[in-house]
Amino acid sequence: MTARHSHTAALPAGPREPPILQTLRWLLRPISFLESSRRRFGDTFSVRFLGLQKPMVMLSDPDAIRDLFGNPEHGVASIRTLALLPILGPRSLLLLEGRDHLNRRRLMLPSFHGARMRAYESTVREVVARDVQSWPQREPFSIHARMQRVTLEVILRAVFGVTDPERRTRLTDRLGRLLAETASAGLQFAVLLSRRFGTPDPLTRLQGLRREIDAMLHLEIAERRADPREDILSMLVAARFEGGEPMDDGEIRDQLMTLLLAGHETTATALAWTFDLLVRHPAVLTRLVAEVDAGEQAYARAVVSESLRLRPVVPLAGRRLASPLRVDGHVLPPGTDVTPAIWLAHTRADRYHEPFAFRPERFLDGPLLTSAWIPFGGGVRRCIGAAFAEMEMRVALAEILRHRTLRSASGDAEHVARRNVTWSPAGGTPVIAEVRHL
Ligand code: HEM
Repeated sequence: MTARHSHTAALPAGPREPPILQTLRWLLRPISFLESSRRRFGDTFSVRFLGLQKPMVMLSDPDAIRDLFGNPEHGVASIRTLALLPILGPRSLLLLEGRDHLNRRRLMLPSFHGARMRAYESTVREVVARDVQSWPQREPFSIHARMQRVTLEVILRAVFGVTDPERRTRLTDRLGRLLAETASAGLQFAVLLSRRFGTPDPLTRLQGLRREIDAMLHLEIAERRADPREDILSMLVAARFEGGEPMDDGEIRDQLMTLLLAGHETTATALAWTFDLLVRHPAVLTRLVAEVDAGEQAYARAVVSESLRLRPVVPLAGRRLASPLRVDGHVLPPGTDVTPAIWLAHTRADRYHEPFAFRPERFLDGPLLTSAWIPFGGGVRRCIGAAFAEMEMRVALAEILRHRTLRSASGDAEHVARRNVTWSPAGGTPVIAEVRHL
């Protein structure tokens, strides 16, 4: 037995296919890959993905997940760096570790505080209301594509603070292209292949586009330094580290791209999944419309929580262990990459009655503050945009359902496809909308 094999023997068992096959199964049929691994190996198993030096351990037991997220010393799992570094830059909050990470996080958190979110509700309402006006009537269209436009515009307004319509159109076009270019499973596979075999990096051809976007962002940063406003960029410009110094322009650019990438596609996709579930569950949809009409928010909140449970948009939130982690009879050594398999954690029969049923009522007493509900990850790396995303989803749902009735335009529920690091509805969630006459 080689040294490499004796090292990996300490890790939990897992699928034995070659890494290239495991990677393809993960990218193309993630739920069946996870379910079959759960059936064969239980709560904890090791997977091998292309481009990763070592196996990655997947967990789904809530106590193990709590222990993993509870230790702030752990680093970022290499799969995150592999997928995001080429697009985000090394100073992105998503990729920094240790003190550097915590310092930035402290600086950025106040801009995303729950109470501040109320200020952005009217922006979301305005953007959605205007977009809905141009929706096709009585013919199928992709609600995912519409939600992508909406969430991009919300970020450009609330986070970047771009008010000039001409600039917003240009930035929307360039960012849309960059995001579309970097989204496909095919490109991800090509990037992993290039990392593994040293073939040309498929992302280099995007450099011109990146430079153009950077120039536009630097202009916005300079303007906000001279003339601060209500947006999150103005707050980032004004924020100071403990020593009193500000973030420099290059870093602010990295954080803006991080907020864009982490906040735009994720929220659009979560909304698309929510509509896919709603149009297939008429009783839930009817109750939601009634509650929205009555000005109630509790049921909409529960719908959002349940949708994020059943369709977790970000499937992994990995850590690189800084100290040993005990789980399922194993002691995982420092340096091991470990991640909750969020789908598996969310569909445990011991935590959720009828775990595969879409039943928002289970969240009516508020979100579950447990490690069995982790759509936003946890611990010191938990999503800083969680309150923003939940607000945006709730406000968008209400605004849309006030103006349109919706039904599904396809027979089958959506399959999962990969876009960037997210799980996305493969068919773009086609729906048919009609104007509501109130
Ligand atoms: C439904 C929408 C969203 C989902 C499902 C989601 C999910 C996640 C997850 C799973 C993580 C990793 C957490 C971990 O490793 O423990 C994360 C991190 C992050 N998210 Fe979100 N997110 C969403 C929306 C947003 C929005 C709207 C923003 C900002 C505008 C945002 C900004 C971030 C940032 C900056 C991080 C890095 C935090 C850190 O490393 O300290 N996200 N998100």
